[in-house]
Amino acid sequence: MSLLITGGTGFIGSHTVVELLALDKDIIIVDNLANSSTLVLDRINKITEKSVTFIQADICDRQAMQQVFQQHDIDAVVHFAGLKAVGESSAIPLSYYHNNVSGSVTLFQVMAEYGVKNLVFSSSATVYGENNPSPLDESMPTSATNPYGQTKLMIENILFDLASSDEEWSIACLRYFNPIGAHESGLIGENPNGIPNNLLPYVAQVAVGRLAQLQVFGDDYDTVDGTGVRDYIHVVDLAKGHVKALEKLSKIKGCVPINLGTGNGTSVLEIVNTFKDISGQEIPYKVVPRRAGDIATVFADASVANSLLGWSAQYDLSTMIKDTWRWQSKNPNGFE
Ligand code: NAD
Ligand code: WQD
Repeated sequence: MSLLITGGTGFIGSHTVVELLALDKDIIIVDNLANSSTLVLDRINKITEKSVTFIQADICDRQAMQQVFQQHDIDAVVHFAGLKAVGESSAIPLSYYHNNVSGSVTLFQVMAEYGVKNLVFSSSATVYGENNPSPLDESMPTSATNPYGQTKLMIENILFDLASSDEEWSIACLRYFNPIGAHESGLIGENPNGIPNNLLPYVAQVAVGRLAQLQVFGDDYDTVDGTGVRDYIHVVDLAKGHVKALEKLSKIKGCVPINLGTGNGTSVLEIVNTFKDISGQEIPYKVVPRRAGDIATVFADASVANSLLGWSAQYDLSTMIKDTWRWQSKNPNGFE
């Protein structure tokens, strides 16, 4: 039996594949390489001394997906494939709805057609919207403030409806907080196209000299130092959360949302100062007005993951930043 990993050459997917290969799982990756490269596959092979089956295909391509299920005996799907840039999603919403929502519906239809009803889905803390106080827990109402967030919310709602219509489905909807870090080997890590949107890749590129200066979006929030607070989680912890979710999937009935976060909040300036200390590099920054749509504080209540999956985050902030810096300094231009 094999595991199908959509989006498996991406940032979180590649780290999850490494953890699954360590357990001798048979892995099939489907990725259209919209935001990744096949060079990742050589790196995965270097780390694990194992290889995967790679299929370059788009999850929106029904025939290609049917072929994957026809040719392989698939037991469960981990569905990472999607576009994830919040700003871009407001500029080209139809591409996001098509790729993320239509692509997911096609995938779920093909899964149903081939009787594969075990799924781990990449959701996001973005579904908590802007009106819930942290710590955020899974019982809180959901909403979205941008097209990217809407796609995650829509897919979650589709999955809740699907699970209520057919009790054979077992679905873990994993709501990630802010994934950072990289594999300790420094061989795989986050490799955003163009100028990074997210804080950590931006800071790392300033430290390595690719970007001149960080803009800190607001220092007048009601937080420890006025800058935004987030729940940063090591990508390897996140990957291990997927392994646990797959292990427990047979016990999950229906569609269950599960936060994957540490439960701790860290401010932008705490990140900048820790990065500076660990890398020994200057991180020049300038405070600019708040970014539209940002809120002061976001962190998880991670107790459901603990009780349901027996999972909790293990890596501290210093390790997350050490690993980010090792990846960035060894690969200043990503996988190129
Ligand atoms: P990523 O861009 O590195 O990986 C996504 C992968 O999906 C890429 O390799 C891309 O080429 C592939 N892909 C995109 N559209 C596809 C399609 N139509 N068909 C086949 N492949 C396709 O992103 P990531 O950070 O690894 O995120 C993985 C998932 O987790 C995404 O669904 C994202 O929305 C979600 N998520 C990410 C974060 C984050 O901050 N990184 C937070 C919460 C949720
Ligand atoms: C973190 C903090 C910024 C960049 C986003 C998505 C969310 C999820 C994770 C996918 C905030 C500040 C940032 C910069 C800054 N992705 N910042 N200067 O906004 O918490 O979450 O990624 O699901 O959906 O919205 O992450 O890394 O962009 O920002 O000051 O150049 O860093 O204001 O306080 P965010 P982020």
